[in-house]
Amino acid sequence: MSLPDEQDVLLGTLISVATDAARQAGAVLVECTRTGFRIEHKQIINLVTDADHQAEQRIIDVIHEAFPTHRVLAEERGLTEQPLSRYKWVIDPLDGTTNFAHGFPAYCVSIGVECDGRGIIGVIYDPTRDELFTAQIGQGARLNGVPISVSTTDHLDHALLVTGFAYDIRETPNNNLNHFVRFALKVQGLRRTGTAALDLCYVAAGRFDGFWEVKLNPWDMAAGVVILREAGGRVTDFAGNPHSIYGQQLVASNGPIHQSMLDVLQEDVSPS
Ligand code: IPD
Ligand code: CA
Ligand code: CA
Repeated sequence: MSLPDEQDVLLGTLISVATDAARQAGAVLVECTRTGFRIEHKQIINLVTDADHQAEQRIIDVIHEAFPTHRVLAEERGLTEQPLSRYKWVIDPLDGTTNFAHGFPAYCVSIGVECDGRGIIGVIYDPTRDELFTAQIGQGARLNGVPISVSTTDHLDHALLVTGFAYDIRETPNNNLNHFVRFALKVQGLRRTGTAALDLCYVAAGRFDGFWEVKLNPWDMAAGVVILREAGGRVTDFAGNPHSIYGQQLVASNGPIHQSMLDVLQEDVSPS
């Protein structure tokens, strides 16, 4: 039996620190639902709560204790630059804030790690169902420790898809409603859960067959795309080009329906 090399040991440490941080942040969120929390408006329909800030602080504390030199990009705090580090943690402390604020139990903590710009770790924790999705590059994806994989659905007629809408939905015609209407007439079912990170996990676990969204942020996608790829899924932009979490478009699928999804998204050019 060979000993794990240095890279395997580091990946193992990264995923266990990310898991610890996600579970602790999940506990913070659940505690806030019990004790109450303040809600502020970033914009008219874009909320932030005390729980977002408290969970984010807990995650950053856990990361910095283990890896003080790593860079961190967190939704509420922004980027803490540590220019010498090859590692960047990309964090959404509460994905699904609108759901959370309304008491609708569909939200999660999302923590991804990049090395030299490449996603290598994804950890997403749903504290309401105690579901922990994890992946490390080359090692597959797991739900509560059990390997998961994407569905085999190969036609939109049989597909359950999911999407979401950005907070500027009222302000721009590039608001995804055109794509939503077209997909609604071509698929078996279409959902909007309000948490992009869990949408990616659910494609990875075969619960959804595909997911697309127009204007996501890096913290919505960083962990989920690692989990999806490791579960055998495919992720691109709307043109079928390689996906970047620093771009906004995302098409994530089980693979077999990917081209059909791209065809629908390319039926017209979205106004910008
Ligand atoms: C939002 C959710 C939602 C998606 C939005 C995101 P937040 O993140 O992921 O599903 O449609 O585009 O901004 O604000 O709840 O962290
Ligand atoms: Ca988010
Ligand atoms: Ca968030």
